[in-house]
Order: sequence, then structure tokens, then C-alpha cells
Amino acid sequence: MAKKKITVVGAGNVGATTAQLLAYKKLGHITIVDVVDGLAKGKALDLMESAPLENFDSRIVGTTSYEDTANSDIVVITAGVARKPGMTREDLRDINAEIVKSASEQIIKYSPKCFMIVVTNPLDTMTWVAMKYTGLPKNRILGMAGVLDSTRFRSFIAMELGVSNDDVHATVLGLHGEDMVPMPRHSSVAGIPITELLSKEKIDALVERTRQGGGEIVKLLKTGSAFYAPASSVVNMVESIVLEKNRIVPAAAYMEGEYGIHGIFMGVPVKLNWSGVQSVVELTLTSEEMAALHQSADAVHKSVAQLKV
Ligand code: NAI
Ligand code: 2OP
Repeated sequence: MAKKKITVVGAGNVGATTAQLLAYKKLGHITIVDVVDGLAKGKALDLMESAPLENFDSRIVGTTSYEDTANSDIVVITAGVARKPGMTREDLRDINAEIVKSASEQIIKYSPKCFMIVVTNPLDTMTWVAMKYTGLPKNRILGMAGVLDSTRFRSFIAMELGVSNDDVHATVLGLHGEDMVPMPRHSSVAGIPITELLSKEKIDALVERTRQGGGEIVKLLKTGSAFYAPASSVVNMVESIVLEKNRIVPAAAYMEGEYGIHGIFMGVPVKLNWSGVQSVVELTLTSEEMAALHQSADAVHKSVAQLKV
């Protein structure tokens, strides 16, 4: 099978780490594009020099020119500003909307048939901006957040119970922010729902830590936000697409009535393969879970309504 062309927009923490993992996992040829002169080129060259040791033969190109991204199969948008302590993701909305708008217009000019994964925050709103300015159909564009929020929840459950991460499954839906919706009833260890393994107080504490997971890292780093787990989450999605795994992953998908939600992107389980988003999976929710999901949707609607682009 011919190697896929994967473009990563933004050569910062998330973008560069994503490119590194894509190369190590041999998922395709990689182009990194960034507005800062030399940044993408330097990181691409540094990565290429690790190829003999890491045993990959992907081509990695760094550039400031979107022309070099032409005919990409998959595009990951990480361009934008990351938050600092005291900021919410929503505080990034106006500045990042301009960046995502301009990156989207450039990308679609050269790769009209790409599959796009948006990472820039506030995630659900930025994915909406990217759809608006690329015109991509809803089965060719997703936002990455659910995989990250779920892997955080999963790791906290594994730490709490002292079990292997391999045996833990966790689901987090809704927006990527404090109104996200971790789903204890749909989270399990070796098939046993965590509601049978942990007290309500303990589950509430793990849910709250998951909701604040991004902020916990921002407070520690002080100069930016998380990037190792976010990059792994993006690559997990790319792998599902390139390897045609038909996986069901939580991701921000465009909603047209699923769960009673319309016209926004928000985290729900989607079935994913090479042709894109196959379907949104509709879980049976309790009235409390459905209310939490709608509270999340209301916050996304509010954010989209405030956009200036
Ligand atoms: P960073 O500051 O390390 O990197 C951002 C890069 O984007 C910089 O190199 C900057 O030069 C570049 N950039 C800015 N405008 C550009 C443009 N028009 N075209 C190309 N490149 C451009 O930030 P980091 O840590 O990589 O985070 C990137 C974004 O991803 C932030 O908005 C952050 O909040 C978000 N994020 C989202 C996550 C999620 O779960 N959805 C997880 C982690 C980060
Ligand atoms: C996170 O959750 C920054 O949104 C990003 O770490």
C-alpha cells in the first residue's frame, strides 16, 4: 500500500510530537507547516536524522508554504495559541479562530479531498470554524478531544484500582472543557462497570480530575499545555483511519439530530475508517446523562454564536 501523505499544521508542542509519533509508527510521509520561519524545517530535519536509529523511512518535510502540503490524505490542525495558567480554553477563541480560518482556507486549496482532524482549542468551536472555511463534508472532519479525555479517565481508573491500563475502558463525551461528560456507566475494567468497583465518592473524584485534566497539566507546566497525551490521541485516530480499523472512538463530530443535538461539533462515539466517519454511535443514556450532554451542547452553541469569523 502506498504511503499516505499526512500534514501537521503547527510545529509547536502538539504538532511536533504528533509528527514524531506518526514517523515512529510508520503511518505515512509527513509534512509539517508553521508560520515561524525555520521552525517546521528545523524540527523536520531533526526528526529525519533520527530515522536511522528509529528505523523508519517516511519522508518528513518542514515548510512555511502551504503549497508543499498539496494532495495530503490527512491533515491535523494544531496551529494556534495554547493556554497559560488562569486561562480557560474559551479565552483562546477569537485569536485561534483567525488562525484556524486561515489554515483551513490554505489547506483546502491544495488538498480538497483530505480528511481533517482539528486539535486547536476551544476544540468543538474550532472544528466548526474549520468546517465552515474548508467546506468539508461532515464525514471528512472531526475534532480530537474525546480520545484524550477518555485516556485521562482510563489512566486515573487504572491508577486508582492498581490494574493494567490494557484492561480499562473509559468513555468521555460532550465538549472538551469543564462541561465534558465522563460516563462511569460506560467505563469498565475487564468488562465490569466501574460503578460496581468503586464508591460513588471515588468515582466523582476521578470524574472531576478528568474534567480538570488539561488544567492540572497547565498549572504544572506554567508555560503551555499538555502535548504527550494529546499527540498520542491524535495518532491513535490517524492509525484507525490509515489502518482501516473500523474503530469506535469518541471524537467531536458534526451533529445532525443525534442525541437531539443539531448544528455543532461535539464529542460522541464515531465509527472511523479510511472513508471517514461512518456513523455516530448513539448510546442509551439515562435522563441525567442526556441532560449533562445537552448542557455541554448549550455551551458549544454559545461559543459558536460568539465567533467573530
Ligand atoms: P504551541 O504554541 O506549542 O504550538 C502552536 C504552533 O502553531 C506554534 O508553533 C505557532 O507558530 C503555530 N502557528 C500559529 N499560527 C499558525 C498558522 N497560521 N499556520 C501554521 N502554524 C501556526 O501550542 P501547542 O501546545 O502545540 O497547542 C496547539 C493548540 O492545540 C492549542 O490551541 C492548544 O490549546 C490545543 N490543544 C488541544 C488539545 C485537544 O485535546 N483538542 C490538546 C492539547 C492542545
Ligand atoms: C488539554 O486538555 C490543552 O485542551 C488541552 O490538555
